[in-house]
Amino acid sequence: MKVTIFGTGYVGLVQAAVLAEAGFDVVCVDVDADRIERLKQGRIPIYEPGLTPLVNENCGKGRLSFTTDAAEGVRHGLVQIIAVGTPPGDDGSVDLTQVFSAAETIAVHMEAHRVITIKSTVPVGTADLVACRIRKTITIRGRSTLTFDVASNPEFLKEGSAVADCRKPDRIVIGVASKAAEETLRKLYAPYNRNHEKIVVMDVRSAEMTKYAANCMLAAKISFMNEMADLAEAVGADIEKVRHGIGSDPRIGYHFIYPGAGYGGSCFPKDVRAMILVQECSRPALWLRWLCLPRPAWPFPVVRAPICGE
Ligand SMILES: NC(=O)c1ccc[n+]([C@@H]2O[C@H](COP(=O)([O-])OP(=O)(O)OC[C@H]3O[C@@H](n4cnc5c(N)ncnc54)[C@H](O)[C@@H]3O)[C@@H](O)[C@H]2O)c1
Repeated sequence: MKVTIFGTGYVGLVQAAVLAEAGFDVVCVDVDADRIERLKQGRIPIYEPGLTPLVNENCGKGRLSFTTDAAEGVRHGLVQIIAVGTPPGDDGSVDLTQVFSAAETIAVHMEAHRVITIKSTVPVGTADLVACRIRKTITIRGRSTLTFDVASNPEFLKEGSAVADCRKPDRIVIGVASKAAEETLRKLYAPYNRNHEKIVVMDVRSAEMTKYAANCMLAAKISFMNEMADLAEAVGADIEKVRHGIGSDPRIGYHFIYPGAGYGGSCFPKDVRAMILVQECSRPALWLRWLCLPRPAWPFPVVRAPICGE
């Protein structure tokens, strides 16, 4: 199957290399000419374990290529994956400029059916907006008989183990509005679904929300453990022992319960803030807002709380 990926950042480049490794014919499109030129020369703009040899090997085998020529990219793939950036705006809302621009490019150049698959993290309802925009553009072009699907396929890779995560995803979330789109994306992910069923099919809006819910849940685990660490310090308990004690409960688990400076990275802060804005369209996001409170500077004065028996 031929696949085109818009965006050669962390998500797009790693996914492209891993799909090429599985035998797919992948073309990557980026608006950053400098980045594309460096990629063509085998110079990889990010460090991820295993990525450089994977990209170079698959380019060598002719299964992976890079271009700034959007028309070529749109001609190439039945599946058009949008993996461009979704940075936060000043008010915390998601800036969808790159997503809409990639979608518009596809609409301008498409000449046959395309399964447009949004891998970027986008607010609920974005796929519907993208579909409206594409329909409008192909109508203006006088090509309103062209058919397309817009699917949601959020990415859950972790920076630092991105290649490994893409090769062995723990789940593959597919949000679709048609059986045909589901079949196409099932074929795309079949190589990663051999051991056991990892594909979770749902409607588009649920898939879009799944990504935000996952990141908010992870940010909440870290924030909660930080609060527990401060409390442990105040009452003379050892948070490491508490961590072992609670992690052994399978309902809690050992992952993401290390206390530390607070959560960060390129996604958690922006995704929590985006989720707050969405929730506050209907009611105050009290609990999510708690996740954005600054962590007290360390070391901070510890006033030992009175303990029973003292
Ligand atoms: N980085 C992560 O760990 C991670 C994990 C899961 C999900 N995500 C999400 O995936 C998306 C991409 O993240 P990233 O870290 O790869 O972003 P990034 O900023 O590293 O890369 C985005 C790339 O898209 C290119 N681009 C912008 N507009 C374009 C267009 N119209 N056509 C073609 N290319 C275009 C940019 O030049 C850039 O190279 C974001 O929505 C992010 O929230 C990121």
